[in-house]
Amino acid sequence: MDISVIGGGYMGLVTSVGLAELGNTVTVIDLNESKVAMINSAQAPFFEPGLHELLQKHVGSSLFASTTFEDVADSEISFICVDTPADETGHVNLTKVKSSACSIGLALQGLETFHTVVIKSTVPPGTTESVIIPLILGKSKRNFSTLGFSANPEFLREGQAVADFMHPDRIVIGVSDGRAEEILTRMYCKIDAPILTTSIKSAEMAKHVSNAFLATKISFANEVGNICKNLEIDVYDVMRCVGSDHRISPNFLSAGVGFGGSCLPKDLKALIHLAEALGEEPFLLHAVKKVNEKQPERIYRLLERKLGKLKNKRIAVLGLAFKPNTDDIRGSPAIPVIQSLDAKGATVIAYDPLAVENMRGVFPRIKYAKHPLEALTGADACVLLTEWPEFECLDSEFDAMQTRIVIEGRKILLCKNKEGVCW
Ligand SMILES: NC(=O)c1ccc[n+]([C@@H]2O[C@H](COP(=O)([O-])OP(=O)(O)OC[C@H]3O[C@@H](n4cnc5c(N)ncnc54)[C@H](O)[C@@H]3O)[C@@H](O)[C@H]2O)c1
Repeated sequence: MDISVIGGGYMGLVTSVGLAELGNTVTVIDLNESKVAMINSAQAPFFEPGLHELLQKHVGSSLFASTTFEDVADSEISFICVDTPADETGHVNLTKVKSSACSIGLALQGLETFHTVVIKSTVPPGTTESVIIPLILGKSKRNFSTLGFSANPEFLREGQAVADFMHPDRIVIGVSDGRAEEILTRMYCKIDAPILTTSIKSAEMAKHVSNAFLATKISFANEVGNICKNLEIDVYDVMRCVGSDHRISPNFLSAGVGFGGSCLPKDLKALIHLAEALGEEPFLLHAVKKVNEKQPERIYRLLERKLGKLKNKRIAVLGLAFKPNTDDIRGSPAIPVIQSLDAKGATVIAYDPLAVENMRGVFPRIKYAKHPLEALTGADACVLLTEWPEFECLDSEFDAMQTRIVIEGRKILLCKNKEGVCW
């Protein structure tokens, strides 16, 4: 199939290479000129395992990038994959989704061939039907006889996004009619996963609920971890016993400094906002959010307990990305940790294998190291915030510190003489 993907970011570009790998011809449409130029020269604009290789394989033959919407007219399907940020209250900003819908509508004007528009961006339930479809129908001056619509939320995880796209647990498609369902089912037929067909609104809701549930598991593990630490019980031992129950599963029960990223915190906030707009009181969701926001504070409290006042103390921060195998720092717990260390007058020297340049945009004035040893040398304490595999075997490097105080926000170190944030 000929497919247009609007938005060449973390989700859209992975979707694009995945669709090209499935045998389709894909045009990525992004307003960011430098991103488009990089894609067209088969360079990944961000790090994601496997992305570079698939760009090298498909760019120029079955994958192209453009800053204009012209190619939408020649494609059978267009996917909207632009960002949908939420503000502090959880209100989702739909400006970019709306603008994409208008541009798609204009590109489809005057054409007769059937076209399916798929919303892959995470949007609040009801958005596709009440906002996106009317915009596309209005701008294209066409009707449902030649246009199909679908909400097809994406569940991939950064750091393993390509593999997740090709081998998902399930594919959820909310559809407007049988024709859109048939086209999407055909498009996904090479992926070996159940296709769950539902209404557009249910598909939109399923994405928010999935992320809220995952967030709930993490906050639950963190709260249990905080209790366990007081009792000198290892929460990882406890969760190994708890997660072996198939009704619970071991996934997302790793206690630590809290969840981050561009999706879990945003989608949780959006669901809270939606519930409150409906007059509901989402007690549980609020608690999940609060536990997560409080968890990074435990890092500096532990440091204060060990070092006293943090003013002029040199603190090595290992790990800035919100998770390993990505350079993405959006929502990373490293941000509130560094913010509070900085506010308390500590000197922060940070290291991450991939995310330093992104973090420099947030904290231009702190110091950055080129390797863990440089960050650790002379440090009064170290906090480890991302479970990068390269940190696992650190041990003698900690001897270069002024004092060997090592706090883990993620359980990864194999060495002795360290303390976990909640274990
Ligand atoms: N990142 C993930 O792991 C992930 C996973 C599942 C779902 N999602 C959802 O996918 C959506 C996109 O997230 P992301 O992380 O890829 O965002 P992103 O910020 O990495 O990428 C968005 C891209 O869209 C482009 N863009 C914005 N407005 C545009 C327009 N009008 N026309 C063309 N291009 C435009 C931007 O230039 C940018 O390259 C969000 O709704 C997010 O919640 C993301």
